[in-house]
Amino acid sequence: MPKIAIIYGSGLGRTKHMAESIAEGVKTIEGVDILLEDAYDVKIEDVRDTDAFILGGSTYNYKLIKSMDPFLKEMEKLELKGKVGAAFGSHGWSGEGVPTLIKKMKSFGMNVIEPGVTAIHVPDKATLERSFKLGRGVAQGLTN
Ligand SMILES: Cc1cc2nc3c(=O)[nH]c(=O)nc-3n(C[C@H](O)[C@H](O)[C@H](O)COP(=O)(O)O)c2cc1C
Repeated sequence: MPKIAIIYGSGLGRTKHMAESIAEGVKTIEGVDILLEDAYDVKIEDVRDTDAFILGGSTYNYKLIKSMDPFLKEMEKLELKGKVGAAFGSHGWSGEGVPTLIKKMKSFGMNVIEPGVTAIHVPDKATLERSFKLGRGVAQGLTN
């Protein structure tokens, strides 16, 4: 069964909310395994067999939220060439989080779906809908 990992870093719960909508979208497609986890809690062994990574991260002090750093370091050790990636996250003004995640995944040789989904501060209904559709779209792609 194809597997999607949604891993996020979120300080105030806004990117987490987007992650939950993405997961709801994934769940509409049968036959896909899903892992939804805060980057603080995820164990690298749990994502070793993942086909697609949907990574989320907000922006603090003009950088991707720090809680994603240890996970990204661990991820680097996996064989990720040709795997699917997508990014999402909330920010306030400069928004480095999502582009940083996209750049990282590309550096791992992954096929990244762009531009990803972004929210300004609290994600509104339309953004949550885009998040849901991202999850569903990635899941559909893996089961086709
Ligand atoms: C201390 C602090 C620093 C922040 N720095 C930035 C920043 O440099 N650029 C930016 O776009 N947003 C910045 N933000 C805004 C957050 O990215 C925004 O509030 C976002 O919605 C937080 O999402 P989260 O709950 O998923 O962490 C900052 C917020 C705080 C509280």
